[in-house]
Amino acid sequence: MEFRLFENVQFIYELVLAQHELSALGVDFEVGGDLRTFECKTTSDSAALKKRLAYFDKVDGETTDYASIVKHNRTRSPNQYLTHWIYPYKGKYHPQMIRALLNVIGAEKCDVILDPFIGSGTTSLECQLLGIDSMGIDVSQVCVLISKVKSESIEVIPQIEKVKKSLCEDYPETTLFTFDSPKTQKKEGLSQAINNIENEKVRNFYKVAELIAHSDRSRRRKKDFYQSFKNNVEKMLQSTKDFKNAVEELSLPLGNVKIDLGDARDLKLKSEHVDGIITSPPYSIALDYVKNDAHALEALGYDLKKVREDFIGVRGTGAKKVKVYNEDMRKCYDEMYRVLKTGKHCVIVIGNATLQGQELKTVDKTVEYCEKIGFKLKKNMDKIIFGLYNVMQKENILIFEK
Ligand SMILES: C[S@@+](CC[C@H](N)C(=O)[O-])C[C@H]1O[C@@H](n2cnc3c(N)ncnc32)[C@H](O)[C@@H]1O
Repeated sequence: MEFRLFENVQFIYELVLAQHELSALGVDFEVGGDLRTFECKTTSDSAALKKRLAYFDKVDGETTDYASIVKHNRTRSPNQYLTHWIYPYKGKYHPQMIRALLNVIGAEKCDVILDPFIGSGTTSLECQLLGIDSMGIDVSQVCVLISKVKSESIEVIPQIEKVKKSLCEDYPETTLFTFDSPKTQKKEGLSQAINNIENEKVRNFYKVAELIAHSDRSRRRKKDFYQSFKNNVEKMLQSTKDFKNAVEELSLPLGNVKIDLGDARDLKLKSEHVDGIITSPPYSIALDYVKNDAHALEALGYDLKKVREDFIGVRGTGAKKVKVYNEDMRKCYDEMYRVLKTGKHCVIVIGNATLQGQELKTVDKTVEYCEKIGFKLKKNMDKIIFGLYNVMQKENILIFEK
């Protein structure tokens, strides 16, 4: 049996993950001289491998499920297939890497995987595609909304289409442009019409289309808010239909997704509850998530000052900010250890931030603390951050076992 790597696999960490996923799925293999074709030395279940693998596009000449899934892509970025592209969220991790990591930690169909920093919902969507149940938690209402929409809209396509005409075609022009008016009038117009949609999943879909339009405008990409909203609705709907088509084409049994607003420092879960954790916490003080999504949080009616109190990595200044971050993260790692079943794996993707030109040892500190509370470090892989050389050159994939 022969496995062929995707042509765009080019980094060492990808090659390493590809080998780890094959081993974890029980394949005894030899890497070919071209480093792209792997030869299986014993017999393996090719049908099962075709369904699971992340870094291979062919198994014995047959297309893998993942190679078929990624073809459903409305963007120019190979990683933003299906609904992954929805919302320009800074700090998303690569879905292909998550699929491979789910294989590496041996996540199975009946398992529940937790991401306590769900962000834009990458972990949940990848679990869903592999038929694995997942729970995503984030302190940001924007993230909760985006993550829900990416995974749930597929259930309400006809309902979304039904509302579309009234919001995107018949909408009275005069009531549209209330977004620049004083705060008291903000709830009028399109926003109000969206809030009036009864079905929560449909309402969330349009809310996100509206938030992307806010984001487009705040980043001065597009000036016409309503046109941007309509374009987003169209593209989101097409991507949701792509998702449905992929599910039907490959007979994918989707995993359940549960997304909740919450605080990773205080998980409302029983001890020994989840079968795996895959997550990427804030990289110390590297990104101000409140500032980043300020336009969207404000559009949802949140007071930024208040919101800031619960976010990790954004409180205080200078060295104090780092100290607060470290204290917060220790609470999170305690919680992650508590809710994970013994013998199961916790994957943390994290990098070193910089403070006043000096690199903070965020990765080392994470390893040190996690080992102190009982986690065993099984793998520590360097991962290049392509395209961000000036800010951060690499991050690490840490795999712990409880
Ligand atoms: C690196 S991002 C996660 C990105 C995610 N992996 C993705 O692919 O989109 C870290 C996330 O942690 C969230 N966060 C910050 N403080 C938190 C807290 N106290 N509890 C839960 N989530 C928090 C931020 O809102 C942000 O979405």
